[in-house]
Amino acid sequence: MSDLTIEEWHAQFIRQARWTRAVRNQLYRRVNLLRAERVLDVGCGTGVITEEMAARCKGQVIGVDVDAAMIAFAQDKPFDPSTGLRAGFAQDEGSQAECRVGDAHQLDFPDSHFDVVVCHFLLMWVSDPALAVREMARVTRPGGAVLACAEPDYGGRIDYPEELPLARWQAEALRREGADPFTGRKLPALFTQAGLSANVGVIPSLWDDEALRAEFEAEWALMERTLAGMVSADELGHYKQVDWQAIEDSQRLIFVPIFYAVGRTQDG
Ligand SMILES: C[S@@+](CC[C@H](N)C(=O)[O-])C[C@H]1O[C@@H](n2cnc3c(N)ncnc32)[C@H](O)[C@@H]1O
Repeated sequence: MSDLTIEEWHAQFIRQARWTRAVRNQLYRRVNLLRAERVLDVGCGTGVITEEMAARCKGQVIGVDVDAAMIAFAQDKPFDPSTGLRAGFAQDEGSQAECRVGDAHQLDFPDSHFDVVVCHFLLMWVSDPALAVREMARVTRPGGAVLACAEPDYGGRIDYPEELPLARWQAEALRREGADPFTGRKLPALFTQAGLSANVGVIPSLWDDEALRAEFEAEWALMERTLAGMVSADELGHYKQVDWQAIEDSQRLIFVPIFYAVGRTQDG
């Protein structure tokens, strides 16, 4: 992933978690998170979703991520009142959550160990998403649930004004970083090939005027970092101006389809 500090990644993960919050809440209900005794968050990053789930269920929630720096941050990060996310579980004695280093391709847990196994913006980043989903299914108990909460598909990104080349740029930049920008459309295949039943949907999110303004600088800062060396500073500056003008004129529209999948392991 691009060269941001862990603090910058954490801020980005909190922003991303806002985009998917409403659907995430519905998905948690669908998989009965409230009653789950053992929950796994694969590719947990700085623990934003891990901690949210720990606050929603009475069971134990474990987050794993391949990046030791993310895990170190997850274990230390302070409470963040602006997001409402309790984020200091390492020091919180009452908490049932913990984060540890681990690889999605080889989960260090026995078969059928968890009631619910979740990932959020993970599969596009792993080198073998089919293996990662198989591993998620393996560690889920019969009749349990595997949830891919959010996998974007930048091939379906819509921008207005149409001259903005952001869909193409973003897909190229993600490929350069080793991610698959078209993961969303592959969720049904990934789940069924892992032996899971699959209910797949797309998050119905249009970014409104207020969100566009609030996220403009942060989104462009990330874009400028990821596109460095690929697009000239002049070109970036030009399209940033086009983007801002469209927002000022209340004409801007961005839609990035973010897919989710709810899978069930076979009962008994
Ligand atoms: C976009 S971040 C999402 C983090 C977190 N799920 C969230 O939504 O806040 C993707 C995360 O996947 C992790 N990751 C990538 N490949 C992985 C792998 N093979 N096993 C475990 N984690 C992995 C990265 O280190 C990164 O923290």
